[in-house]
Amino acid sequence: MNYIWSKLSLLEFIEQSINQVVSEKDYTFSDLFAWTWIVWRYFKKKWHKVIANDLQYYSYVLNRHYIWNHTDLYFSNLVEEIPGLLTWDVNTYKEIVCNYLENLPEKKWFVYTNYSFWWTKGTEFERMYFSDENAWKCDAIRDKIDERKKDGKINDDEYYFLLCSLLESVDKVANTASVYWAFLKKLKKSAQKSLELTPADLMLNEQDHIIYNEDINTLIKNTKHDVVYLDPPYNHRQYSWNYHILETIAKNDKPKIKGKTWMRDCSEQKSLYCSRDKVKKAYSDLISNIDAKYVFLSYNDEWLMSLEDIKEIMSQRWEYWYFTKKYNRFKADKDENREYKKDYVYEYLHYVKIEK
Ligand SMILES: C[S@@+](CC[C@H](N)C(=O)[O-])C[C@H]1O[C@@H](n2cnc3c(N)ncnc32)[C@H](O)[C@@H]1O
Repeated sequence: MNYIWSKLSLLEFIEQSINQVVSEKDYTFSDLFAWTWIVWRYFKKKWHKVIANDLQYYSYVLNRHYIWNHTDLYFSNLVEEIPGLLTWDVNTYKEIVCNYLENLPEKKWFVYTNYSFWWTKGTEFERMYFSDENAWKCDAIRDKIDERKKDGKINDDEYYFLLCSLLESVDKVANTASVYWAFLKKLKKSAQKSLELTPADLMLNEQDHIIYNEDINTLIKNTKHDVVYLDPPYNHRQYSWNYHILETIAKNDKPKIKGKTWMRDCSEQKSLYCSRDKVKKAYSDLISNIDAKYVFLSYNDEWLMSLEDIKEIMSQRWEYWYFTKKYNRFKADKDENREYKKDYVYEYLHYVKIEK
């Protein structure tokens, strides 16, 4: 996924810091502002049970597939429609179904009529989020997935696998600098390529993980945790704005859209963590309600809450301190969302050991 501020390059720092604080070896790792699999998968690979959560539905879809799906997918009810599935090799099924969907006939529907250049050419707001071909391909695949889900030909696991594959594949050919806040005026090279429905990886394992799609402040009142990792938004830009098209494709709800970027109404997914006025109270409520042994927070000194605020809030639950590391910014952040002047930042991992 295109992403401007991923924790990918900080995973070892996060793990080593956690290891210095947490005495238990066999803890559950709760990644409660998860976005995609970047952080939780690292901990899952170290044999921890994982709990993941995010407010965005498209994020839930990705995590529902990557965390939950853990056994082979057979697509047995699609055999009549896709005779290629009559092979014995289960490892090829995912590819065969994706290949079939990738080659469906043209369907000009929601994505095509709202986010491709051809359809919006000459209108007040011309848009070029996708090439024309990729826009109708996305429509054809998305609607077929729903059709097959509705007529019971695919089960939930197959559904989330296909949807996850589509979201990731569409993101690769999106004509944006990184997020969907704006599109580029000319089709960039990767956006000129034809959409290929690449099967999402399937991680076969013993299943024992949980995924939620809730506001964290609500979720935290009803759940118990060991080690909680928090990586909240860090500025005023809502994730629901940044990824509005992925959310629309994931939900396939053909929403009313408006504005220059033709965005869905995101008011229900407005995060308090993106508001300078509200973030401190939201974080304070979260920390006071959390039922966990340890809480770790990635947050640095340029973001909405001050280090003093964080210290004040976290130390109420007992032993507070932090780790820090110099970190070079991502290139895309420079190109598009240039809010910060320095090329590096000191990344902080704050923590509190919660009093028993
Ligand atoms: C900084 S990102 C997480 C990035 C991730 N750790 C990584 O490295 O890729 C923050 C995430 O928090 C989610 N989020 C924002 N407000 C939320 C809330 N109130 N409850 C749950 N998730 C929220 C956003 O949708 C976004 O995916």
